[in-house]
Amino acid sequence: MTANVDRLDPSRRSEAIAAASRAFWPDPLFGWFARDEVQEHRMLPIFLGALVRDALPLGDVWSATIDQRVVGTAAWYRPGTLPRTRRRETRIYLACARALATGRNRLTGLRLLDAVEKAHPSEAHWYLALLGVDPSRQRRGLGSALLRPVLEQCDEHGEAAYLETQKPDNLAYYSRFGFEVRDRITVGDSPPVWLMWRDPRS
Ligand SMILES: CC(C)(COP(=O)(O)OP(=O)(O)OC[C@H]1O[C@@H](n2cnc3c(N)ncnc32)[C@H](O)[C@@H]1OP(=O)(O)O)[C@@H](O)C(=O)NCCC(=O)NCCS
Repeated sequence: MTANVDRLDPSRRSEAIAAASRAFWPDPLFGWFARDEVQEHRMLPIFLGALVRDALPLGDVWSATIDQRVVGTAAWYRPGTLPRTRRRETRIYLACARALATGRNRLTGLRLLDAVEKAHPSEAHWYLALLGVDPSRQRRGLGSALLRPVLEQCDEHGEAAYLETQKPDNLAYYSRFGFEVRDRITVGDSPPVWLMWRDPRS
């Protein structure tokens, strides 16, 4: 099995969103937003699709491909591409609102997303908005391969990186790459979201 990791070809966008959506099921946060499992499945491509559509034109969405199929996706924002313009922010907000509209915990959910957004660091950094590997291909090095190009660039140029995660298991995973927990956010009875920061390695 040889995987190719490269910048996502825009013509494969749907495949990349589908692979990421498979990766994120099940998920503590999306499970809390959704009324039931079917809705959780529908919600994932709306949320994750909005992120990939926003990040793709900026040039830092990566895909892992095996046998011509996209099996993993990483969406990064390089320093200077955030905060989003009002137009880009509105598109993301509308997608979130649409995904949440028929789910549970709508208002607390929007407050949680808002709190996470407000906690976004102001220092220059690369932001990992999305990392997902198809469940049938996990734990074979693809997630690491998807992280590598940008983390190498961070180390080479002395740039920091940042991410959020809602899965406790991922804390150990990301700490392997040098990310450290900066904060933990909950609103009401929401599941926690951890904020992780990585200083460049010299
Ligand atoms: C997290 C994720 C991207 C990792 O990708 P991956 O291809 O499975 O991971 P890799 O193969 O590169 O690394 C696996 C190694 O990390 C370790 N590890 C620790 N925590 C892990 C975790 N939560 N998931 C996968 N591996 C983990 C494994 O034990 C393995 O170690 P080993 O190589 O010594 O056996 C993938 O599991 C995934 O898509 N998860 C669901 C979506 C998600 O949570 N994304 C991150 C959101 S912030």
